[in-house]
Amino acid sequence: MANKNHYEGIVTVQRHIIEQQKLHPEATGAFTGVLDGIVLATKIIESQVRRAGLVDIIGAVGEVNVQGEIVQKLDRFANQAIIRSLGYRTSVGIIASEEDNEPRIIHPRTADARYIVLFDPLDGSSNIDVNISVGTIFSVLRIKDPDWDKDPVKALLQKGIEQQAAGYVIYGSSTLLAYTTGHGVHTFTLDPDIGAYVLREENVRMPENGKTYSVNEAYSGTFADGYRRYLEWTKQEKYSLRYIGTLVADFHRTLLRGGVFLYPPTKKDPSGKLRMLYEASPMAFLAEQAGGMATDGKVRILEKQPTKLHDRTPLIVGGRDEVQRVMNFVRE
Ligand code: AHG
Ligand code: MN
Ligand code: MN
Repeated sequence: MANKNHYEGIVTVQRHIIEQQKLHPEATGAFTGVLDGIVLATKIIESQVRRAGLVDIIGAVGEVNVQGEIVQKLDRFANQAIIRSLGYRTSVGIIASEEDNEPRIIHPRTADARYIVLFDPLDGSSNIDVNISVGTIFSVLRIKDPDWDKDPVKALLQKGIEQQAAGYVIYGSSTLLAYTTGHGVHTFTLDPDIGAYVLREENVRMPENGKTYSVNEAYSGTFADGYRRYLEWTKQEKYSLRYIGTLVADFHRTLLRGGVFLYPPTKKDPSGKLRMLYEASPMAFLAEQAGGMATDGKVRILEKQPTKLHDRTPLIVGGRDEVQRVMNFVRE
């Protein structure tokens, strides 16, 4: 008897996005093109990540970026891959990257340009040299302001609840893509044999509780009292600590296994380290779409109004019960 064809009934991310579009009767297909551009860029990035150590892609460029962080060769490569691959999509008006000082206007005002793409091209880049998972994070907003090309920064300073889509890719033991367009979180695995992201799980749900906390506890000496009391409590309750230092990887584990990830304000980063538009906001959208929560300790991340392009925020994200508990400690 012939083997059942492994690829029979295969659902690629492209097909999935098209199906999702049917849930939006007003959709024109332009949005599908945006996500398609992001997907292509992540495949280009993944091919370089897989070659790290074989080609000259490991190490620093010798520059510091707008965030005051050392630019890795792979940061730059990933940034350019996304800019190029979105550059051909006429529906994208503005792109803004964690690595760049200013947003870029991709297409001067045309009737087609209706989306803004914000991204962290390579998350966890300090981990690349030591073979630990890195990722890419993206967030898609709609252009609302008719004069958007006069002031692109103003056009993109939107609250997280305005996001049209968000997602990430982990270049890990396998390459995995997770995305949401506001109808649940769906994950895909890159099949290297056919070069396509293949559906792994639809409507992923984040467990409401889970005895894992994830934080750079080395900084706890400079955390506010509430955070320190919470960390003491986790020891009494025999929680486990897991911290990778790549947000995408720490978030993904929390999504699947439950628990909580936190990056509180520290002495070094009094507003938190994570970037509102490229990291916190997309992760908050995904968390809520999977039944979880995301807050800065006081305010729901998705309701925070960003005030500048590279705004930072404290972040507590994870299963509902776990996030709620941290908030109870922090609010006291
Ligand atoms: P990036 O590599 O994009 O600059 O992001 C690094 C971020 C995030 O991925 C991670 O959660 C956090 O930095 C880790 O920071 P610490 O080293 O301060 O713990
Ligand atoms: Mn990052
Ligand atoms: Mn980065």
